[in-house]
Amino acid sequence: MLTPVALHPQFEEGTTLDRFLLETLRDHPEATGQFVTLINQVTLAAKLVSARVNRAGLAGMFGATGTMNIQGEYVQKMDVYANETFKRALEHAGVVCMIVSEEEEEIIGIPAPFTPGNYVFAMDPLDGSSNIDTNASIGTIFAVFRRKSASGQGEPGDVLRSGREMVAAGYVVYGAGTVLVLSTGQGVHGFTLDPSVGEFFLSHHDIRLSPETRSYSCNEAYSGSWDTRLQGWLSATKDPAAGWSARYIGSLVGDFHRNLVKGGVFLYPPSRKSPSGKLRLLYEAFPLAFLVEQAGGSATDGRVNILDRTLGSLHERTPLYIGNRDAVEEITRLLTT
Ligand code: AHG
Ligand code: MN
Ligand code: MN
Repeated sequence: MLTPVALHPQFEEGTTLDRFLLETLRDHPEATGQFVTLINQVTLAAKLVSARVNRAGLAGMFGATGTMNIQGEYVQKMDVYANETFKRALEHAGVVCMIVSEEEEEIIGIPAPFTPGNYVFAMDPLDGSSNIDTNASIGTIFAVFRRKSASGQGEPGDVLRSGREMVAAGYVVYGAGTVLVLSTGQGVHGFTLDPSVGEFFLSHHDIRLSPETRSYSCNEAYSGSWDTRLQGWLSATKDPAAGWSARYIGSLVGDFHRNLVKGGVFLYPPSRKSPSGKLRLLYEAFPLAFLVEQAGGSATDGRVNILDRTLGSLHERTPLYIGNRDAVEEITRLLTT
């Protein structure tokens, strides 16, 4: 059974995301203004994508476009819609100097007549999009950095940097309900969209990973070509005495959200199919690592903490082990000894 999340007395029922941000960022005037506008634009895009996902079957949004993206994956119609929606919501608001998207090879600049702002926004506009036709959970994942360059359009150095430099990260999961999970470095908080009024309300205050739950989440079909030490770990988890369960949607955002709320570990190791791992460092591993640490967990690439990595190229891939600290540390220890 899900443990009801107690609201902080300051945040009684009915607290909107907007109010929450204004109150929690009050002591950080440098983070208000453009940052609040940025998050407001993210929520606008999220509502539009959520509405489209909910009626995808009616709106002709199932299936692929027939083209491949720069990652060599088939682009789904919803990938294109989500990418365009988040770009359009952010580019005109004067709050970002660049956007990096899974769906676009190059850095996306701010087109005239709009003005570049102080932040860098990196996104996986629609994660798990191959699941759209099956009605399984999908989502948007994003990372936010404050720009390093002084002004004008952003430069590569504004995004090729350490994960420790993120100022905020989050995701929106379009599941049975639409939930936005966000951290600005002061804990992890979840907001549920009430579609009847079009607002995100605080529903999960200060999410902490449950320390007890033991579930692992991976594509076990690839385990035959994993590192043998990891195969050993997987066998050990299957000892009935260990009390583990397996849960895998095949949608990172859905699998991560479940583990965040109920406890668990997600693994995407290198395998014959994807020798460097499949997931992307900038807009999948970085933001989820930021969130998991804020919730008391951890994330590594099997050697080092994900947040201690420095991005070398926009679409760099990484192995990923993320979730409860004890499990992630055990896997990392096994892989480094
Ligand atoms: P995306 O849809 O953004 O390309 O991400 C794909 C993902 C991720 O959501 C999931 O964890 C992983 O691919 C699943 O891969 P497998 O099908 O290889 O298990
Ligand atoms: Mn993805
Ligand atoms: Mn995607």
